[in-house]
Amino acid sequence: MTTSISAPKVVLLAVHLATKADIDSLTSLASQHDKVLHTELLLRILLTCLPETLKSSEYVSLLERIDADVVEEHPKDIDCSSVEHFTETEATKKVRRLRLLPLAAPGVSKEALGDPISLFLIQRAHRVDEEAGLLTQLPDLIVPFLDHSPCIRSWMISALLPLLRRNHEYYPDNPIHYTLSEFENLNDRAAVSLLLDQTGNREEDLPFIGRDLRGLMGPWLYNDARWKREDGNRADLCVVSESGEATLKRNLCPGWEQMLEWLTTHASKSWKVAVNAIEQWDGLDDVDLGGYGCMWFKDEEQGYLEQRYARAALASAYLIPEASVEALAGVNSIIAKIMALLDQDPYPTLQVASTILPPYSDNGTESMLCPKNATMMRNNLLEESNILTTPSARSTRLLHALTLSAFILTKAGALCTVRRAGELAFLQHEREQEAEALNFINKLRNNAPKADDKYWIRARNELMWLRDWGAEEAEESSHGKIHGVFGQLKKEFLEVECLKAFLSSGRYSLARSIFEDSPAKPLSNEVLEGTIIAAAMNAYDDASNTNRSRGRLLECDDIIHAFPKTMPENNPAAQRIEALLKATHGLSKYRLVLKPNQPFRPVVLRVHSDPISIIGKVLEQNPESHTRLQDFLEIGANMVEAGLATRDKPGKPSPTSEEMSEQRSLAEKRVTAMCVDAALTEDDFETAYSYVVNRLGSIGGSTPVGSSARQASAFVDDYSWKAALQAGKYRRTARTLRPTHIGTSSGNPDIRHLEKRMECLSAALRIAPPATLQEILNVFRRCEEELDAAVKTEDEQESAWDDKGDVKAMPGAFSMTVPAGVKKQTRAKSRQEEAPMSLFELSRVSMSRAQQNFNLLSSLQRSGQARDDAQDAQGELEHTPGQPKARKRDQLREAAVGTLASGVGWLIGAQPVKPNENE
Ligand SMILES: *[C@@H]1O[C@H](CO)[C@@H](O)[C@H](O)[C@H]1NC(C)=O
Ligand SMILES: *[C@@H]1O[C@H](CO)[C@@H](O)[C@H](O)[C@H]1NC(C)=O
Ligand SMILES: *[C@@H]1O[C@H](CO)[C@@H](O)[C@H](O)[C@H]1NC(C)=O
Repeated sequence: MTTSISAPKVVLLAVHLATKADIDSLTSLASQHDKVLHTELLLRILLTCLPETLKSSEYVSLLERIDADVVEEHPKDIDCSSVEHFTETEATKKVRRLRLLPLAAPGVSKEALGDPISLFLIQRAHRVDEEAGLLTQLPDLIVPFLDHSPCIRSWMISALLPLLRRNHEYYPDNPIHYTLSEFENLNDRAAVSLLLDQTGNREEDLPFIGRDLRGLMGPWLYNDARWKREDGNRADLCVVSESGEATLKRNLCPGWEQMLEWLTTHASKSWKVAVNAIEQWDGLDDVDLGGYGCMWFKDEEQGYLEQRYARAALASAYLIPEASVEALAGVNSIIAKIMALLDQDPYPTLQVASTILPPYSDNGTESMLCPKNATMMRNNLLEESNILTTPSARSTRLLHALTLSAFILTKAGALCTVRRAGELAFLQHEREQEAEALNFINKLRNNAPKADDKYWIRARNELMWLRDWGAEEAEESSHGKIHGVFGQLKKEFLEVECLKAFLSSGRYSLARSIFEDSPAKPLSNEVLEGTIIAAAMNAYDDASNTNRSRGRLLECDDIIHAFPKTMPENNPAAQRIEALLKATHGLSKYRLVLKPNQPFRPVVLRVHSDPISIIGKVLEQNPESHTRLQDFLEIGANMVEAGLATRDKPGKPSPTSEEMSEQRSLAEKRVTAMCVDAALTEDDFETAYSYVVNRLGSIGGSTPVGSSARQASAFVDDYSWKAALQAGKYRRTARTLRPTHIGTSSGNPDIRHLEKRMECLSAALRIAPPATLQEILNVFRRCEEELDAAVKTEDEQESAWDDKGDVKAMPGAFSMTVPAGVKKQTRAKSRQEEAPMSLFELSRVSMSRAQQNFNLLSSLQRSGQARDDAQDAQGELEHTPGQPKARKRDQLREAAVGTLASGVGWLIGAQPVKPNENE
């Protein structure tokens, strides 16, 4: 028994037993000497001496005994040997030297003061954590005493539990490096940010964000100390503002504010954390106190915390920087959460909403959608004054309209965040809206499934909704029209863009049914026609192939034929485009390269400053194509019909029918002239000759030669006479293609060729402007001399033949029927006749003296009629066999002279002789 030992020795023995962790003996000792080992002393001994590594369960019963003040009935024997050998003086001295720790430590809560057990538990917990690092042992120590005092419960839940979970349960690999007591002494913001600093950091942590908020934030709030009152008293949470609405004082719970900032900061960086947080956590109603208690807040506290949480959630929606369908679906779930908090019916999913396209209405006294309010999406999101983040039906309606807008755009591929949608709707910048709308339509077009009218019907509905957010056109709310994200854009503009998209996606019948057949007629006829033409031309200009049965040209073709009411066949624009397609398609049969290594594109034709010249390129690049004159004439005519010849002169009235016919005839001549040139280049004189005499010669009459009309007309035919002259200059070489059909008129190819050249030259004379006549005459004269020489040579050869020939040796009929002498005579005579009429002489005289010598002129006019004869002459030349050569030359000369007469007549102001005009 230890009843006999002195008080100092009891104390020393208790210290000894505590140090050895002999709880049983210590319990007995305390029981027997409860006067000496009173509660506080015993607790101090335990606090100081009991090893911190000792399991809590070993000494909790002792503590409970102390707490309950129970006395042991059958005390056991205690080994006193450790203190027996001390004298009383030694013992007293030793007790005095014991440095027992005090129970009260700085920073302990007021409620715990005067409660040794509470003080002990908290101090003991701190020491177990600091000395042994055994935080996990502490629940065993504390839980039995939860009912001992409210301060133990709130300390356990608000301090120990969060740190324990954070460091040992949730993120043991990344613990907070603070002791329990250091953690308790952190300010609210620092503590909360440490608690949450691992939350949602890794993808695999995302499902646990709700757990963290529930299990860390919730318990942490379970403490009155978390509430800050400016004056240190329990201030009224509500202050009444001028408007009469109750608003809450800011920053009453700094830790909660910290959590909200954590949330919004994450929203602006990683939407997944914010959205998961809000989806997974319902706020105050959703806390996990580990079964150690239940949360209870005053109504105003509860209201404050909930309002702030909802505001942060709304703020997060505006802050989310990612434009993706997933992120926006996340925003929608945020809205749903807030509506639930506000006891409102939730909106459907965005997918469903985008098919319903619900109307947006704002029946506040003043619209929230004003430019000034745009800054509220960026700044002071958590401020009470921010109406966008004030949890209310009004703010959620607006957020929903913005989210749905962003979703519709993003879904199509025109990525848009809530904030971007907000900027479009708040600021109402027309340019920005237009760019966004065009981008949207473009993406719709690029991502359009093949042949899906439903897709486009829906897209159009969405586009229109984005403009007015479903408000009826006529209906105006109390403060003007509702303007959606495309509110500044005219309905017509959007309809036109829609129509363009329909057409470029090949949705012709859909376009027809909406824009042409429907009674609603979204576009006026004029605009509709203009858009169709523009779309057709767009397709045309985009085409890479000149074949109208293919690619974009086919599209162009389809577009102008898709609207029979708007673009009937007699529509001038439709006709022009049809002609353009024909002209283009005409080129598709030929090789054509304007720039090296660049295939010819239809648009080049349309914008070419001289489209008909392209035919020249075709002729150059396609050997023998000059024989296909008819083809090229058609192409040229179609170019004229397509309006290419007079294109693009701004302010110029469309050509009159006379102008058109002039253009047509000019094009015809020019194309023919090109074929003549091409034929000559390829040494195909016969074809050139035939085009000159059959076409240029005959059509030449239609342009008034030498008249004043020549200058007045914008379309001067400088092509025909030049081509005729070129042909007239052509000299036969070995390369010259032989005529396929040799006329019987002359067996001598040189003579025949010279005659044909002279025909060409006389055609040139008929159609050339006066200033050029001299040049042509020079050529004509040389040609004539050559012909004379050739004829002479031939005559001589024939005479030589005749002279040397023997009638018997040559049984042919010719020399038999015509005596040689007669023949010679005839030739001499014809040459005599020619002499005074030398064309060269004639021209020289006429050019120099015409004005004075009227006699000469009238003698020239006498042969004016020869023009017509000349035209007939070629036929005669070809088809009348056996005519003497002299006769033919005369005819040629006559023809030339007739032309000259009219030309010179013009020079001196006389009326040209033009029999054609009389008809
Ligand atoms: C308009 O506001 C009143 C309250 O001012 C509210 O009861 C009503 O539901 C609102 N209307 C709509 C369409 O939101
Ligand atoms: C935002 O709009 C509201 C109207 O709903 C208006 O009362 C408020 O002054 C605006 N805020 C700012 C910052 O312009
Ligand atoms: C034009 O395209 C159609 C269809 O591909 C083809 O049948 C035709 O032969 C093409 N014409 C030319 C001249 O290439």
